[in-house]
Amino acid sequence: MTGEQKSFKQLEQEGFHAKAHAYGNYVGAITAQAVEPVLDAVQTTQNTHFLDVATGPGYFAGGAAARGAQAVGVDFAPNMVVEATQRFPNATFRQGDAEALDFETGTFDAVTCPFGLLHFADADQAIAEAFRVLKPGGWYAFTVWDTPDKHDFFGIILDALQTHGMMDIPLPEAPPIFRFSDPLESERVLTEAGFTDVRVEGLPLVWETNAAEDLLLLLEYGTVRTQMLLQMQPEDHLKRIYKAIYEGASRLERDGRFVFSWPAVMSVGRKPL
Ligand SMILES: C[S@@+](CC[C@H](N)C(=O)[O-])C[C@H]1O[C@@H](n2cnc3c(N)ncnc32)[C@H](O)[C@@H]1O
Repeated sequence: MTGEQKSFKQLEQEGFHAKAHAYGNYVGAITAQAVEPVLDAVQTTQNTHFLDVATGPGYFAGGAAARGAQAVGVDFAPNMVVEATQRFPNATFRQGDAEALDFETGTFDAVTCPFGLLHFADADQAIAEAFRVLKPGGWYAFTVWDTPDKHDFFGIILDALQTHGMMDIPLPEAPPIFRFSDPLESERVLTEAGFTDVRVEGLPLVWETNAAEDLLLLLEYGTVRTQMLLQMQPEDHLKRIYKAIYEGASRLERDGRFVFSWPAVMSVGRKPL
């Protein structure tokens, strides 16, 4: 089977399976900054039965377990489950699909989905599933990245790709990355799914490095589709893209360090009692 014949979902699953270990070492330094605000938003305590969907290396389930919660993490990439289990032995991890959760209706006090929705073929279905498995009165929170105008990494990468890249690459149709960065859209979708007490807030995450090349490693290990777009570029386009990325990064350099503003948007809702 060639890359073109596979669905978006298959490519994402294979990509995250292959990158599981490296993902944790690179992107984890950023996503893990959101653990405490997300756990607070869903009111995680030692009495919480907690589910983290698209758990990746397991930071959020691991954080909930550290608070004494009974924490479960689910991811569709088998190596992510292995990675999470090794990192956080106090939580339970299993393979599963966010769009068809293998849990009874009304099981959990809290469900989180950090940086997952933008990778789902059917995000609305994943939100409906989170609602279903929550107990009445239970809390749900998801996070996504903010839009490229506010986000240094996406701003630089997407600008370089759009300016110098060939964009008619034969990859399957993907859902819009920044759909849930829009507070109005998140509020609309959560409310239509049945949630109350809906609110959206920004999380001012950052990423720092002393080597601009780390940006390319983050791309390689942290993204699936963007990395495939890059891999499929002709050599001369790729050279121009990399040059633009380095130039973009150099504008953020201060005294040998590159400081990237990496904001996230967190949306929260409650299943009615
Ligand atoms: C960007 S990572 C986020 C991981 C983790 N939540 C974090 O914040 O570091 C996205 C994760 O979603 C998982 N994923 C994507 N689609 C999924 C689906 N339909 N069901 C379960 N997991 C999925 C991927 O395997 C990957 O681990």
